[in-house]
Amino acid sequence: MPRPIKTAVFPVAGLGTRFLPATKAMPKEMLTIVDRPVIQVAVDEAREAGVEHFVFVTGRNKGVIEDHFDKQFELEETLAARGKNEQLEILASDLPQAGQASFTRQQEPLGLGHAVWCARKLVGDEPFALVLPDMLMKGAPGCLSQMTATYEERGGNIIAVEEVPHDQVSNYGIVGVGETLSDTAFSINEMVEKPAQNEAPSNYIISGRYILQPEVFAEIEAQKPGAGGEIQITDAMIRLMAHQSFYGVKFDGTTFDCGNKVGFLMANVAYGLDRPDIEPEFREALNALLKS
Ligand code: UTP
Repeated sequence: MPRPIKTAVFPVAGLGTRFLPATKAMPKEMLTIVDRPVIQVAVDEAREAGVEHFVFVTGRNKGVIEDHFDKQFELEETLAARGKNEQLEILASDLPQAGQASFTRQQEPLGLGHAVWCARKLVGDEPFALVLPDMLMKGAPGCLSQMTATYEERGGNIIAVEEVPHDQVSNYGIVGVGETLSDTAFSINEMVEKPAQNEAPSNYIISGRYILQPEVFAEIEAQKPGAGGEIQITDAMIRLMAHQSFYGVKFDGTTFDCGNKVGFLMANVAYGLDRPDIEPEFREALNALLKS
């Protein structure tokens, strides 16, 4: 039985330049999906998969993320005095327990691999989940829970994968498909970052969720900056593949890339239509807007 995944790392140190000016003073991870910050949706998914330690790799201007995962005494007192019990319950159930959230800083935005490496002391010698919060993966059960099922059977390293049209493969990290394990899982025999279309081993992209063994930290540390002068996580995984197994789990659900504007807007529409409290009114308004 592989060691269970109790820790998740959330890299939130990026600059979010595609969302300026919204992200000038506010982290992009606090942009809202209906009424929940993007980062809260990612934390909910990890909690559902059994995660008990939430590690945030932050940067300058990201203090509000730490505040979001803290108690707000004045607000709670005011809500209690006004009898707003429903809101109080939401705040209480969203909050990690004392000691379950840790924060460290990536002092310079040197790439996703480097951000993950910044979490090494907080993760320790344990396998962990890596969750890219701006890839919003809407599924039931959530993407990490779907991956955990294969992890519990096989151990090793797991990557959530999704198919894209062949002419888009050069925008992504792509995996090669080895042995089929089930309808939804296969072993990965190759990994390439942004290959030319005729050199891509498949059209399965590396999506925004990973389960990684702690040996990945040593691989990141040994690494020279790759594409764009940044330390890439894919490069470290390629090296780790030389001595550990990697499995792909096909995500059953819809992914919204909330790092770009259309993806973010679409996520709000999809999550909004899924909310019983606003769905009828929202659908009617949306239909009217589309017809106008
Ligand atoms: P992105 O590639 O979306 O970069 O990062 P970004 O800086 O956040 O956004 P843009 O492109 O300027 O608009 C993917 C994920 O990796 C994190 C980001 O916070 C995001 O969750 N990241 C990226 C870091 O934590 N550190 C980095 O150095 C780079």
